[in-house]
Amino acid sequence: MVSMEQYLQYHGLLLPPQAHSLESLRYAEKFPVEDSDVFAVTYPNSAMSSEDLYLRHHGLLLPRETHCAQSLRFAQEFKFRDDDVMVATYPKSGTTWMQEILPLVLNGADLTPIHTVPNWDRVPWLEEKRLALVVDQLTSPRGMVTHLPFHLMPPSFHASKAKVIYVMRNPKDVAVSSYHFHKMAQFLETPATFDEFLERFLQGKVMFGKWSDHVKSWRRSGLGGRILFITYEEMVQGWPVAVELCEDDRLLLYVNVPLFQDLGAAVGRVSEFLGCELSEEATQRIVEHCSFGTMKNNRMSNFSLVPKVYMDHDTSPFLRKGIVGDWKNHFGPEQLASFSSVIRKEMEGEMEGAALPW
Ligand code: A3P
Repeated sequence: MVSMEQYLQYHGLLLPPQAHSLESLRYAEKFPVEDSDVFAVTYPNSAMSSEDLYLRHHGLLLPRETHCAQSLRFAQEFKFRDDDVMVATYPKSGTTWMQEILPLVLNGADLTPIHTVPNWDRVPWLEEKRLALVVDQLTSPRGMVTHLPFHLMPPSFHASKAKVIYVMRNPKDVAVSSYHFHKMAQFLETPATFDEFLERFLQGKVMFGKWSDHVKSWRRSGLGGRILFITYEEMVQGWPVAVELCEDDRLLLYVNVPLFQDLGAAVGRVSEFLGCELSEEATQRIVEHCSFGTMKNNRMSNFSLVPKVYMDHDTSPFLRKGIVGDWKNHFGPEQLASFSSVIRKEMEGEMEGAALPW
């Protein structure tokens, strides 16, 4: 948590540094309010309706805390460079993990950025409010992250040669991780029960819509050599991929994956994709510093700099369990059957070509 001295003083108020800076306050003071704008004014932590919490962007729900019309316009007009690298994910699929790995791969395992810059500024979100404030500090090759589906990427992305690392995760584990995140993140609608949350998740009434739509949009992007698909599961060290999937996770047949993969192999895939040669020692350093335990203790990456009014780590830490298959501790047989049936139907046809592991 942030200590009192770290808060920003503004006209006698204490403001959390993660969400505010002198630039953002200056920007707010000069902000050109338009007649059609709508403001939800609340004291932090007050009960808010879904309308207050989310804005709609092409049918998708986006948290107002981190997104606004201006940030979405900024993203739409963003000028991509050919050497930019995007990490694209559906929320809770391993975004933060790749925000840690990517800069280290790009800079040959120099640990400075992950020890000195919070992840939201180090590899900022394309669609979030922070990008406008930090974009000038990013040096090429720039690493950025997005939860946008492929069809909402801005025109200059399509015109560029920017590369994409798309991280996917078992949707059942995504739903579980998301459930806990919705309980701890005060800027999201708090789920009443896991059952109620699963229902909302399947209907796409959560931030960034349906998991299946997101995955399909990027898998069908036709980006060819510009995109690397990688799974959360293959990054978890020593996880017996094929065995686990065959025995416990029959949702979709899994082929094409070595029995054991690990973070070192995943880092190797990323570095090869980006054309960044890494020594064995550099790879090992990345693996060590991107392990769950190390990241959990890195305050630049574990979101502990975010004040409790936004993220309550006592309810659930952001880096919560970091395992594969936690869904087994949450899903009852009926929930599993209906979840699997919906996802299977929505993912029909996706098995052609490269396999999906769930
Ligand atoms: P759990 O809630 O299952 O623990 P995102 O960054 O997309 O929001 O995803 C968050 C999930 O990734 C959380 O999952 C978090 O613990 C997990 N995660 C983050 N860093 C990780 C790491 N180094 N190793 C394993 N899991 C990690």
